[in-house]
Amino acid sequence: MFLRKCLFCCPWTKLNTKRLVLHVIILGFVTIAFLFFMLLTVNNYSWVPWRPVNTYMLRSHDLSNLHYLKGENNNSAEEKNPEIFPPKEQALEPEINNFKYIINEPNKCKENKPFLIFLIAVQTWQSEARQAIRETWGKEDLFPGVQTLRLFLLGTDATSTNSTKQALTEESQKYHDIILQDYMDTYNNLTIKSLMGFKWIATYCPQIPYVMKTDSDMFVNTEYLIKKLLLPDKPPRKNYFTGYLMTDFSPNRNTQSKWYMSPELYPGERYPVFCSGTGYVFSGDLAEKIFKVSARIKLLHLEDVFVGICLQKLGISPVPPPRNSDFNHWKVSYSHCLYNRIVTSHQFEPSELIRYWESVQQNKHLCG
Ligand SMILES: *[C@@H]1O[C@H](CO)[C@@H](O)[C@H](O)[C@H]1NC(C)=O
Ligand SMILES: *[C@@H]1O[C@H](CO)[C@@H](O)[C@H](O)[C@H]1NC(C)=O
Ligand SMILES: *[C@@H]1O[C@H](CO)[C@@H](O)[C@H](O)[C@H]1NC(C)=O
Repeated sequence: MFLRKCLFCCPWTKLNTKRLVLHVIILGFVTIAFLFFMLLTVNNYSWVPWRPVNTYMLRSHDLSNLHYLKGENNNSAEEKNPEIFPPKEQALEPEINNFKYIINEPNKCKENKPFLIFLIAVQTWQSEARQAIRETWGKEDLFPGVQTLRLFLLGTDATSTNSTKQALTEESQKYHDIILQDYMDTYNNLTIKSLMGFKWIATYCPQIPYVMKTDSDMFVNTEYLIKKLLLPDKPPRKNYFTGYLMTDFSPNRNTQSKWYMSPELYPGERYPVFCSGTGYVFSGDLAEKIFKVSARIKLLHLEDVFVGICLQKLGISPVPPPRNSDFNHWKVSYSHCLYNRIVTSHQFEPSELIRYWESVQQNKHLCG
């Protein structure tokens, strides 16, 4: 009986189990592949490992709107996309004009004919980051004959005490590079911060050839930027805007995300081309143009997207930098010669910034 069972049942069962297992495995794979595909198309897939950090939208597979998303240099974009340009009445943001200067440097730009101004978004408490920038890429006399200026853009911090205010005042008197205005310094107000920077340029330094807006945790290779990107163009460009181009991105509709955009604020399905807010460079004439046009556009808290919309409204397309690797909104892994040939790299602690900077300076003779 036992023998019979083994002879007749076991081989049969074995065969079937094998096939069954095979089928289950195949079915499993197909299901996983399907789910993965659905996630990619439907969800905000910022968790996918090959997406660089700090990107905040989903790249859609629907290319039907591409003609406009590719940043057409055409003012009629407005008519084609009425939803992102709300009627003027509802869009006017008059209050943006009125942030009082608590600390200002109105004469900063009046001497020495500066060539490039850095507008650096930073918060009150980040004095170490400011110091590291002063000692590295933000030095104002890095090149004989080419004057750069640096300005730190600050808003007010509800938690700051009298002693931090005192320290900030002293810092300002020593370095003359602080602009403090009375808007609340929060992530959601970064757009205000940049617009205030543009307004400062328009008011106190309208003749400046170039402006770079960047953040306090950035590595910037000032020499490469000036010598390879900006100086070769003579006379200086107008209506010029470059950086890390973000093309064909859609609003992030995941309410949990830092980069969430509600359909009420931005009903459109795509953003126009914009440059990553970690670092972009533009010709000085654009500061006033962007600031002025911004009053006619519904304010969005995503600063770089908002500036992209302003540019679109102006009919100006951001242009790619000479090399795609010039601007990086992630941390580029270190090599002397690589860092010699980039404009930006992201996510630096102050001490790290100083180390990288010194290493690049000491080794630049090794690179062609
Ligand atoms: C802009 O768009 C209009 C209408 O869509 C078209 O007639 C015109 O040729 C376009 N101009 C440019 C510079 O593409
Ligand atoms: C902070 O300064 C303000 C005015 O400068 C003063 O009225 C206030 O009492 C001070 N607060 C503390 C805790 O010293
Ligand atoms: C700044 O941000 C805060 C909180 O995110 C908000 O309450 C405030 O209205 C914003 N605007 C200004 C001008 O401070």
